Amino acid sequence: MTLKIVDGMENKKLCLIMVTEDERDKCFLTQKLTRYMGWLAIRCKVFKDRDIQGIEIKFDDLVTNVCEWFKEEHTTVAILDLENIKLSDGPKYDSIFRRDHIDTLFVEYIGDEANQDTLSTPLESITSNKELTDPLSYVVLRKESKDILVNKVENYLQTRIIFYVLNINMENKSIWLSRHGESVFNLEEKIGGDSSLSPRGQKYAQLLPDLITKEIGESPLIVWTSTLRRTQETAKYLPYKKLAWKALDELDAGVCDGMTYKEIEEEYPEDFKARDDDKYQYRYRGGESYADVVNRIEPVIMELERQENVLIITHQAVLRCIYAYFMNVPQGESPWMTIPLHTLIKLTPTTDGVKVTRIKTDIPAVSTYKEKGSSDITSNPSNLSSKYANILEEVSTIQKI
Ligand code: F6P
Repeated sequence: MTLKIVDGMENKKLCLIMVTEDERDKCFLTQKLTRYMGWLAIRCKVFKDRDIQGIEIKFDDLVTNVCEWFKEEHTTVAILDLENIKLSDGPKYDSIFRRDHIDTLFVEYIGDEANQDTLSTPLESITSNKELTDPLSYVVLRKESKDILVNKVENYLQTRIIFYVLNINMENKSIWLSRHGESVFNLEEKIGGDSSLSPRGQKYAQLLPDLITKEIGESPLIVWTSTLRRTQETAKYLPYKKLAWKALDELDAGVCDGMTYKEIEEEYPEDFKARDDDKYQYRYRGGESYADVVNRIEPVIMELERQENVLIITHQAVLRCIYAYFMNVPQGESPWMTIPLHTLIKLTPTTDGVKVTRIKTDIPAVSTYKEKGSSDITSNPSNLSSKYANILEEVSTIQKI
């Protein structure tokens, strides 16, 4: 018997049409959705009705561009970022794209004030529109009250997109990321395990409250850790509410847990090479790949979008995945990013992207960075700064202890 995926994402083509009163909201939502899709390996592209010189692209040409792009392999979501589009334009777009077997989903994001007009009139006309053989798929989100109105959302991809949009908190906030302090296993060059902090790791834990308080002042903060000892010990002195997530535990190295990279190279040479060749997809025997980690932390990302200020204390591989989500780092590159110990990373979402600040402490720590093609730990990984390390800004604050 063969199993058929009835509503998988593979064969679905979806045109997401953004309707907002405010250009900034549209820009913010569009860039967030694009990043989210990319992170989940859903191929997505934004289409505008103006070219880079600001010259209008004719409606028919725009439709042709979208339909042509959908003919390429694995294309799943087109986001239409158009000027002056209204929900009442929905039937026109829907019937055109439906001819090419492309679903449409309208995402309207409006102020509560505006809702009386925009909600009642167009929706009535939409539902009574005779040209529509099928009702339109849309979601209307009210900005202040956060009320939502959802119509005909019927597949997994659409539901997932709506759930994501619903969770986005547009308020100003920052996210701080830190690896745990240096651990005993880090000193021994062993991966995985559940060891405690080294004396230098404990110093970092003691410094962290000052470092964070200087950053956050009186604002509220919640601290998330993994369930492993080294992250909890790092969070120990922080005077904020804490939450331990199993989903934030380090990438599971399976049979290699507790080994050094040298031991892995000797004992499992083929696996060692396979991991270097495709570090994102390689799954440790009895363990996980980076792709697995991305899947398991998706609920964390969703909750992170809902929250205000959060400090996440977790592990090298998990932090690479979180960082890749915010900084739009391609999958092939994310497992090779440098995320040093004893460094706090501040991410501040803006309308155009995310501002990054790295706050480096002067508490020494070993490197845990293994270069491609070798089992050696690189002694000075900060020199290997990835092009995604400081997209907007890098600040090094040396803290005296
Ligand atoms: O060495 C520290 C560590 O967190 C290990 O526990 C983990 O296996 C490793 O980093 C992940 O990094 P990489 O994917 O580069 O091996």
